[in-house]
Amino acid sequence: MPTYLSAQKKLLNHPKVWLITGVAGFIGSNLLETLLQLNQTVIGLDNLSTGKKDNLSEVQSLVSKKQWSKFKFIKGDISNLKTCKVACKNIDYVLHQAALGSVPRSIKDPIRTNKSNISGFLNILQAAKDAEVKSFVYAASSSTYGDHSALPKREHIIGKPLSPYAVTKYVNELYADVFQKSYGFDSIGLRYFNVFGKRQTPNSAYAAVIPKWVDAMVKNRQIFINGDGTTSRDFCFIENAIQANILAATASKKSALNQVYNIAVGDRTSLNQLYDELKKIIFQQTSIFHEKLIYRDFREGDVKHSQADITKAQKLLGYKPTHKVQDGLTKVAIWHLERNI
Ligand SMILES: NC(=O)c1ccc[n+]([C@@H]2O[C@H](COP(=O)([O-])OP(=O)(O)OC[C@H]3O[C@@H](n4cnc5c(N)ncnc54)[C@H](O)[C@@H]3O)[C@@H](O)[C@H]2O)c1
Repeated sequence: MPTYLSAQKKLLNHPKVWLITGVAGFIGSNLLETLLQLNQTVIGLDNLSTGKKDNLSEVQSLVSKKQWSKFKFIKGDISNLKTCKVACKNIDYVLHQAALGSVPRSIKDPIRTNKSNISGFLNILQAAKDAEVKSFVYAASSSTYGDHSALPKREHIIGKPLSPYAVTKYVNELYADVFQKSYGFDSIGLRYFNVFGKRQTPNSAYAAVIPKWVDAMVKNRQIFINGDGTTSRDFCFIENAIQANILAATASKKSALNQVYNIAVGDRTSLNQLYDELKKIIFQQTSIFHEKLIYRDFREGDVKHSQADITKAQKLLGYKPTHKVQDGLTKVAIWHLERNI
């Protein structure tokens, strides 16, 4: 079984050409940073709808000039098949991250979400197949567990989707499976569970809870908890998600391919616990004591609890999360503070 370390060493010795879609976004830009640091060549595709050029500039500041010269950015939309075909030319590994995230956004605008997340997905899948890439890894989502209440979540037991976003992410899995059956095209889906880390934006109506709360605490602004705060999630630090992508892209064992995997830590943190933990970290770092907390109604489309069983990724990919939620929270808080001061 390859380890993350052995996979990284192999890449350093035999560099590859990667395509990252959604490269200017949170997860995409973190993948870019790691791959460039491993001396890989990377083509990045993004339409800059939720992603930012600033994320790319930050990556540029963190890698050497030589490493940065191995990156080429294509501003384009995955809903255009021609763009996808150009982007997939001469690519070894695809990490498909581009999508419109957020459950509430998808409830407000299902058509737009569908265009990027289903039509766009199909385009990139088709283009990758036609270009005969060596591997295709895509961002799936824990939202696919929908209304099934069993905990921890195991990959083969899913419920009905609770939002248009969840439908789109499930359809990705169905298309990936059918492309294997119809064309023998292999892929791997990574069902991310609430990934968090640097470059995750706090400044959007659809921002995720961790960057939103860190930002609010630092600015001593009101924080809202949807529900009574017992809602829980398996928060996954970005380093774990990067590891999963590299292991999945380089996986060679037949049994590891054409699967979906939970990518998380296997823990559960309630919103109340998250608030207390962040409040402690922000106080340690800034002496700001945050107290402006209001509880309000549960949010439509949200699942109450989420916790992953990560056994499958451990067994078939050699995935070993290196960061627990607390390790990641301190890093994220420091990153936000450096940008707020
Ligand atoms: N962050 C999480 O916790 C989480 C959880 C589950 C799944 N995911 C999935 O992981 C992927 C990355 O999420 P993220 O958190 O980095 O989000 P993000 O919004 O920061 O990044 C998505 C990127 O895709 C780009 N994009 C969107 N539509 C596009 C299109 N039509 N053409 C080209 N580019 C397009 C955006 O501009 C953005 O840069 C997404 O597929 C998301 O659904 C994320």
